[in-house]
Amino acid sequence: MPAMKLESCTFALFGALGDLALRKLFPALYQLDRAGLLHDATRILALARETGEPSGHLRAIEQALRLHVPAKELTETDLTRFLARLSYLGMDFLKAEDYAALLEHVSPQDQLIAYFATPASVYGGICANLAAVGLAEGTRVVLEKPIGHDLTSSRAVNDAVAQVFPENRVYRIDHYLGKETVQNLIALRFANSLFETQWNQNHISHVEITVAEKVGIEGRWGYFDQAGQLRDMIQNHLLQLLCLIAMDPPSDLSADSIRDEKVKVLKALEPISVEQLGQRVVRGQYVAGSSDGRPVPGYLEEENSNTQSDTETFVALRADIRNWRWAGVPFYLRTGKRMPQKLSQIVIHFKAPPHYIFAPEQRQLIGNKLIIRLQPDEGIALQVLTKDQGLDKGMQLRSGPLQLSFSDTYRSARIPDAYERLLLEVMRGNQNLFVRKDEIEYAWQWCDQLIDGWHRLGEAPKPYTAGSWGPMASVALITRDGRSWYGDL
Ligand code: BG6
Repeated sequence: MPAMKLESCTFALFGALGDLALRKLFPALYQLDRAGLLHDATRILALARETGEPSGHLRAIEQALRLHVPAKELTETDLTRFLARLSYLGMDFLKAEDYAALLEHVSPQDQLIAYFATPASVYGGICANLAAVGLAEGTRVVLEKPIGHDLTSSRAVNDAVAQVFPENRVYRIDHYLGKETVQNLIALRFANSLFETQWNQNHISHVEITVAEKVGIEGRWGYFDQAGQLRDMIQNHLLQLLCLIAMDPPSDLSADSIRDEKVKVLKALEPISVEQLGQRVVRGQYVAGSSDGRPVPGYLEEENSNTQSDTETFVALRADIRNWRWAGVPFYLRTGKRMPQKLSQIVIHFKAPPHYIFAPEQRQLIGNKLIIRLQPDEGIALQVLTKDQGLDKGMQLRSGPLQLSFSDTYRSARIPDAYERLLLEVMRGNQNLFVRKDEIEYAWQWCDQLIDGWHRLGEAPKPYTAGSWGPMASVALITRDGRSWYGDL
């Protein structure tokens, strides 16, 4: 049993029958309970617009737990205890009168946490209704992404929330920040002087960030087609990773010290003009191909699709950061659906030593690489050069990894899902792993200019075959600079 149990709280989950809640949030709450972290008095209120018998909806939540929690982590005892914390309330989130019933379910002495797993367009309405029944005082609100679809709409959402809740009680989710290895970036960079002294344009030539997904649109066509890969992945997850790699050391680990440093990076991102778009950004859309050896449809043939869409399912781009530390060091970002495998990794390419003394044909081996794998097989590898062994080898070089695989090294410890960590931090009142309003806004500002440029150019996304690493133009994007994607994936 862990030493630190949390204080008791009422966790009100708006949108409790939605995909995110069923797939991620209830399983994460279950795991926290199973780990003995939830206070005995903590209650979970499942709120959704569906009316009818609460027991039927609670059964749907139970079924989702049975489906999404790994069998070896699901025991009947744990499940029964967890389900006993739950109540269901059907309500219309935008109807003020429905909040009287909610009020009855919240114990006044408990910390109230209101988690909005709903479209962002209703966040403001929920906040106003909570305030009207006196449920806003001291409450923490958790906002799911996407917050708006551009700078203007995200400001409108944030402003509506800010009418009721001060920034220090607003927790904006980017679930990548809850991933164990992403948090490890902070430890890796700031607890090891070995890396931090090298972490700049004197020693690093370029950085790659790849977030590839094997899945396609998975029944989410309606949402995704309005968003596209830039809004869905780059604006948030990839830019957050970029910030953690590129930021200056914060003076302490407080939420604002870290966020201040991240904001400086976002502000320093060089805008990409319409004229540069063709060379610096590649948009793609998958066409029919195969995944794991079975045929899969193209984006325009997915369930509920229309055949006209020019929404991108892949983006590769080169970002530059205009500051002292990173001048001249490109950050290549790449993310797409229907790639050959699920893979999130960051590769830091170090520069070659200033004077080369080995055989000319081995020159391409030179240059250390630090590979930070976020998923799958979380771990870190440092690619180093050594001499090949054997009398006949002379000074032949060999490139090999110094490996730290988290799952092998810490075999006994299960790697928690990002949402478990994030929910725990909300309950603890710690905002470190959440995104501040200005971060979201600078990220939108940078992405908006790309979207605007695409509109002006009016070019369709480049096709790529499902199960491939994206359009050929994404290879050209990096080879143009005399480089290649790590592993020549
Ligand atoms: C979400 C996106 O934020 O992240 C999804 O909306 C994407 O489109 C998902 O599939 C990827 O998350 P993960 O943790 O599976 O890499």
